[in-house]
Amino acid sequence: MFRWDYCYCLIVLFLSFAIYKFLYNDIDIVHLCEIHKGPLVFGTDACDSVMKGVVDVKSTFLTKIIVVFGPKAVIRGNMNGEKIIMKTLGTKQEFESLEEDAKDIFSGDISTTSPANVKGVLLKALHLPLENRVPKLYLCFKPKNVDTFLVKLFDKYDLTNVENLINIWTSIIVNPEPLVLQILRPPKWPVPRYYGSCGRLAVFEDCGERLTLFYDAPWSLRANLTVQVLSAAFEFTFAHPTFTFYLTDMTADNIVVDDEGRARFIDLENVIILDKISDPAGELKLQSQNHTSDADECTSCFSYSIDDICGHRISDHNIYGVCKVRNNFY
Ligand SMILES: *[C@@H]1O[C@H](CO)[C@@H](O)[C@H](O)[C@H]1NC(C)=O
Ligand SMILES: *[C@@H]1O[C@H](CO)[C@@H](O)[C@H](O)[C@H]1NC(C)=O
Repeated sequence: MFRWDYCYCLIVLFLSFAIYKFLYNDIDIVHLCEIHKGPLVFGTDACDSVMKGVVDVKSTFLTKIIVVFGPKAVIRGNMNGEKIIMKTLGTKQEFESLEEDAKDIFSGDISTTSPANVKGVLLKALHLPLENRVPKLYLCFKPKNVDTFLVKLFDKYDLTNVENLINIWTSIIVNPEPLVLQILRPPKWPVPRYYGSCGRLAVFEDCGERLTLFYDAPWSLRANLTVQVLSAAFEFTFAHPTFTFYLTDMTADNIVVDDEGRARFIDLENVIILDKISDPAGELKLQSQNHTSDADECTSCFSYSIDDICGHRISDHNIYGVCKVRNNFY
């Protein structure tokens, strides 16, 4: 006769073991790196720290749940005494679709492709909509001289190295945050420091708590943060000598406040870049009057037109964006 109690007993044993493993095992960050997926990764510059155990992970119950069941892993920790946040930056589907694209585009062995070929692919990824989707890092105009342009934008990379170029391409497609944070660096810019990546796991400075937690803060603090957020909108628009950066995903969740009360913009994944000086002959026919965002369409959504933003020398898009964040706050 079949012994049900025996069967139950086995199931209970198995479940207890699974729960025990889940609760008492630390998160395996080396596994999250997927280093064998190179060069379709963000980089390898943080691998020394990650592999040698310099990184101390805060394995809370919630973090484990997010790592196991969430679309992307986000893990807080410490590295050489600095508070850090590690993120896988893309979902499983996003990485899979990247691998498919890579097979089509680089047909066959990626490592034998030439730097010039990858540069062409990069440029396309920055400017041409993919399947009607606007790229996350969108370049308003195709530059005349690809090399000079890429050097201006990605000077932290060795652009003669195919692997580096493919890392940049991976980032453009999956999540440009590592790229943006190498162009805009703190303390000059109100953004987190990027410490590097190990494979598909990127390491950033942990800049504190989200702005949404400050809705009930004293008026003076909220006023102070408001001034900071508004000046940041002007900085992204005017402070870089060559480029204007328009952030297209501004929400209160994407702004955090650090221990010193500094507001910082995080999740810089959706950015439009306008090269504002390389058109001395006026060929791009940029409108010289300022572009004003149209706030009439709806009060809570955040809509914009790429053509309008890219067609003017100056757009108030960032200012409009931070004003949309204001709900409950300013
Ligand atoms: C906001 O507060 C910080 C520190 O508390 C201070 O350094 C800064 O000057 C303040 N900014 C404004 C605009 O008052
Ligand atoms: C456009 O905006 C800039 C910056 O706020 C300002 O200096 C300039 O006068 C404005 N131009 C026009 C035509 O309104």
